[in-house]
Order: sequence, then C-alpha cells, then structure tokens
Amino acid sequence: MVKICCLGAGYVGGPTMAVIALKCPDIQVVVVDITKSRIDAWNSDTLPIYEPGLDEVVKQCRGKNLFFSNDIEKHVSEADIIFVSVNTPTKTRGLGAGKAADLTYWESAARMIADVAKSDKIVVEKSTVPVKTAEAIEKILTHNSNGINFQILSNPEFLAEGTAIQDLFNPDRVLIGGRETPEGQKAVQTLKAVYAHWVPEDQILTTNLWSAELSKLAANAFLAQRISSVNAMSALCEATGANVSEVSYAVGKDSRIGPKFLNASVGFGGSCFQKDILNLVYICECNGLPEVANYWKQVIKINDYQKSRFVNRVVSSMFNTVANKKIAVLGFAFKKDTGDTRETPAIDVCKGLLGDKAKISIYDPQVTEDQIQRDLAMNKFDWDHPVHLQPMSPTTTKQVSVTWDAYEATKDAHGICIMTEWDEFKTLDYKKIYNSMQKPAFVFDGRNVVDSEKLREIGFIVYSIGKPLDGWLKDMPAVA
Ligand code: NAD
Ligand code: UDX
Repeated sequence: MVKICCLGAGYVGGPTMAVIALKCPDIQVVVVDITKSRIDAWNSDTLPIYEPGLDEVVKQCRGKNLFFSNDIEKHVSEADIIFVSVNTPTKTRGLGAGKAADLTYWESAARMIADVAKSDKIVVEKSTVPVKTAEAIEKILTHNSNGINFQILSNPEFLAEGTAIQDLFNPDRVLIGGRETPEGQKAVQTLKAVYAHWVPEDQILTTNLWSAELSKLAANAFLAQRISSVNAMSALCEATGANVSEVSYAVGKDSRIGPKFLNASVGFGGSCFQKDILNLVYICECNGLPEVANYWKQVIKINDYQKSRFVNRVVSSMFNTVANKKIAVLGFAFKKDTGDTRETPAIDVCKGLLGDKAKISIYDPQVTEDQIQRDLAMNKFDWDHPVHLQPMSPTTTKQVSVTWDAYEATKDAHGICIMTEWDEFKTLDYKKIYNSMQKPAFVFDGRNVVDSEKLREIGFIVYSIGKPLDGWLKDMPAVA
C-alpha cells in the first residue's frame, strides 16, 4: 500500500487529503500537524474548519485509510510521498518584511524530513511558495541525505474555500511540476497516478518545477486582478450613474473575458490573494523588474482603496461622524460558506469605523466572538504567525459586541454594513429590522446581496457598491 503523509492539517491539508483518501482506497493517508488541538479536532465530531461536504468525506474514510496524528516523525519516516501543506505567511520582520514569504515553517518541515527519513521519498510542495523554492528545499534535503533519494515536486492547490470539496472532486486542472531528469519524471508519474484515480488524465498538467510554482502565484494574481478591475469600475459607476452589475454582465458576455469573478465588492479577502501578490511583487523586485512589481502592486492598492472608500462612504453618509453610533456588521468571514476570517475586508472596515469611535455589533453565522476580538486586536499579517498573537486592546473590546442573531445585532442601530454575502442576509425580515433601528436607518451593502429597491420602499437609505446613488447619498460630501 502506498503511504502518504501530509504535514499541515489546515484548510488545504485537511480537505485535500480527505479527498485523496476517499478517492484512493488503496492508499493510506496520514495528516500530521504540530498543533495538538487541531489534530484533536480533526479526530472529533467538530472538525476544525467549516467547509460544506467536508464532514461527510472525513466520516467515510477516517479510521479506514485516513488518519490524523501528532506523531509527525513516525509517519514521515514511513511515508512514500510527503505533502507539505504548512503555512507560508508574509514576513513581518527583517528583509522583505510586509512582502516576502516567510518560509520558516517550510524550512523546519524540510529539515525534519531530512533528519527522520530512512527510505527514498517524494516530497510535494502543496503550500504556495515563491518560484525557485524547490531548489532551496532540495539543498536542505540532500545536504545530509545518507544516500536517500529525495524527489521534489510542485503540486500547488487551486481550491477555493467554501467550495473546497467540489473543487477537489472536479478540479479545472491538477498541476504537477518536477525535475526533467528520469528520476524526476518517474516521481511526476507516481503522483499523477494518485490523481488519476478520479481526475481525467488530460486535466493533469505536468510542467517543470519553476512553471508549476509560478503558475500558482500567477493564477491568484490574475483572479485578484479581475476583482480589483471591477472594483475600480464600481467607483466610476457611482460617480457617473452607471450600474456595476450591468457593466460587468455586459463585459463578461465577451467570451474572451467570461462572466465569472466579476462581482464588485467591498474588497477581496482570504489568506491567499494579498499574500501571494505581495510575494510576487517581491520576487519581481528581487529579479530587477520594478515595472512588473508596480503593475501587480496596484491590484492590492485598489483593494485597500475599495475598503477605505467604503468606510468613508459610511461615515460621510451619516453626517460625517459615527462616534457613539451603533453600526451593525452583518457577516465577518471573508466570503460565504466559510468561518475563515483571514484578511477579511470586515477587519479593515471595522477598524476604520472604530477609528471614528463607532460602536459595532457583529453577527456572522460561522465566526465566534473570540475569533472576531482576536482579529480586531491583531496587527497586519500577524494572523499567520501564531507566536506573535497580540493581547486584546481593552478599548476595542468595549466598542465591539458580537451576537448570534442578526436581529439582536441590528436592534437600535443607526446603520448596517453587510460584509459577507451569506444567503440568509437576503431573506432577513428587513421591515422588522427597520422598525427596531434609529432613524434615518442606513444599509451599506458591501456585497450587493440585498434588494435595494425593496429596502428603499421600507424606508432605508441604501448604498450598494457601484450602483446609482440615493438622493441622500448624492448630497453628502464626495467620497475620496
Ligand atoms: P493553515 O494555517 O490553515 O494550515 C497550516 C498548518 O500547518 C497549521 O495547522 C500549522 O499548525 C501547520 N504546520 C506549520 N508548521 C508545521 C510543521 N513543521 N509540521 C507540521 N505542521 C505544521 O494554512 P492553509 O490555509 O492550509 O494554507 C497552507 C498553504 O496552502 C499556504 O501556503 C497557502 O498559501 C496555500 N493555499 C491555501 C489555500 C486556502 O484556500 N487556504 C488554497 C491554496 C493554497
Ligand atoms: C482563492 C482562489 O480562488 C483559489 O483558487 C486559491 O487556491 C486560493 O485563493 P479563496 O480565497 O478561498 O480562493 O476564495 P475566492 O472565491 O477566490 O474569493 C477570494 C475573495 O474574493 C473573497 O473575499 C471573495 O468574496 C472575493 N470575490 C470573489 C469578490 O469580491 N468578487 C468576485 O467576483 C469573486
């Protein structure tokens, strides 16, 4: 039986390995992690991450050919194929801080593999890493190899959260990069045989190592660029009376552009886009390509602009101050169908409103109060560096309350900010909500999920990203 061990039981390692185990009953899969609580949760009835369909997959294979363990060295030494799916955060200090990828976790994983391996291994980069990382990893692994053969492959993951299981069952493509040597190509074929259990062969692409590594950064940069493009248009729509939904529909009808990923929003979030683009920018700078670096940097700049533009719109609409006003924040996760809050635009928006002394009441169906308070107290990029967790600031705690009910969150509020496109926000009883709020009652829809006309009929003043403005909002000072 082929044995797979995966280092890192996170959003990628957990679901990816669960699907491999489900689709490959002839393979034993063990997912290991340095965090005990995470492994305990994977072995319990409450998995550490919320992802539609994941529970069923895990329940079908756990204890048969899928295992979760903290006994890292044992399972690494027994494995034929080792996936490394550890976090690769943005560096917060030193050279390249704020841009470069911090490969501390990856490097320590590689050193440990080199130390405990007693037989030949295929080591698979599953984490998103800077192009040429495989070369560095190879050096670490082969430095003390004692005759053991290590083959490094790059097999970046393209799943999106909220649809991870669907994406893993039916991937647009699986990408495997390897050395162009006979041993390298043999390793590529071994990994290809794993995916061929359920992915059609013509969708399994094989490339050289550097193309595979760079394709992952490029794919995320292209995706994020589409969102920044439509968000840039949303500002112009508001200024001119055009409607961003109509514009993106018309633009997306061009088959060369396509309709997906053109929804204007308060900004993209998630653990990948910003981190991977900053990483790309840094690599371009290091390779003497400042023009290319600046080109991609704009994608992040527009995203930051969109978030601060939203905060400015809220404040300016409410008579230029939100001090001591209750603002209900509906949704905190970075997108629907996940409890993940990493780089969620809700953090920046809440911090902006808190800066203006608002009182915030937050409701998200999947995010706990602890998580929200931690997120609001953390410095930029610290979320992916568990050791740097900052203590909570008492001021922030007092100004923020978290509830498990949208009606409670909106009671007595002056305004509502919709930060996540949860389906349930479309069907709330907005008449009831309006009656319980201070007047004039505002809705700022950062995801274009509510029916703005219906809300206006109820009496709300409604702002929707990129849509023609209410008379009220038009009369307020221009938003920078
Ligand atoms: P995560 O933080 O959820 O999981 C990483 C896990 O690795 C953590 O549980 C951590 O404890 C563990 N870990 C760290 N060092 C370890 C070590 N030496 N040995 C064993 N375990 C170790 O991160 P994630 O979201 O799963 O992302 C992992 C990688 O995949 C990142 O490079 C990310 O960019 C990439 N990626 C993420 C997504 C996504 O949607 N989250 C999608 C594609 C690619
Ligand atoms: C992304 C990539 O899609 C995935 O391929 C990669 O493996 C990891 O990074 P993820 O971050 O999980 O996945 O979710 P995604 O669906 O890409 O959404 C990212 C952010 O963009 C979310 O905040 C989402 O709300 C926002 N978004 C997405 C928009 O604002 N508009 C859109 O049209 C699409």
